[in-house]
Amino acid sequence: MDIKQIFKNNQAWINNKLKLDKDYFENLSKGQTPKVLYIGCSDSRVTAEDLMGAQPGEVFVHRNIANMVINIDLGAMSVINYAVKHLQVKHVIVCGHYYCGGVKAAMQSADLGILNPWLREIRDVYRLHQGELDKITDEDKKYKRLVELNVQEQCVNVIKTADVQRAIRDNNLTVHGWVFDINSGKLIDLGINFDQILLEIMAIYRLK
Ligand code: CO
Repeated sequence: MDIKQIFKNNQAWINNKLKLDKDYFENLSKGQTPKVLYIGCSDSRVTAEDLMGAQPGEVFVHRNIANMVINIDLGAMSVINYAVKHLQVKHVIVCGHYYCGGVKAAMQSADLGILNPWLREIRDVYRLHQGELDKITDEDKKYKRLVELNVQEQCVNVIKTADVQRAIRDNNLTVHGWVFDINSGKLIDLGINFDQILLEIMAIYRLK
């Protein structure tokens, strides 16, 4: 993509918005009250707002390689804290995607330097679900299933935080695990039963 073209596109976007509403940017600058926190992959094909049809101001977004929620990642933890505690979002979505390069890399044994500790978190997901994954002989299906299980475990990591536990209890916050299928463009709700998972993990992770 040509850098000069980006600025031309930006001006065209401004013109379009102002054509519909001359106060658009003035109103946008007054503040944000998004109801949704979206945590997704940095992959250039998974354009969060675009694929959800979301407008500026509607979704608080955090993206990194393979949509990870790592407990000591100050970036992700700050986003969750701010979204849940201060913006008081009602939904936290972890959205993975099939054909994720990060998940693919974690299924291979190559030494990728600084990426190793990041990808190790995905290997840990594999280890947690090794019984199920090792039974899948089709590599493509195994890859897709690991994408789904990674979403599930990152949702669990979201729930492990005190801010989220408090918001589930006091603010009706719900956590969702989704996958975006690049091959069809479809968003898929994995329908993870978080009430059940909460029951199972809370004995260990409850923070009062
Ligand atoms: Co990805």
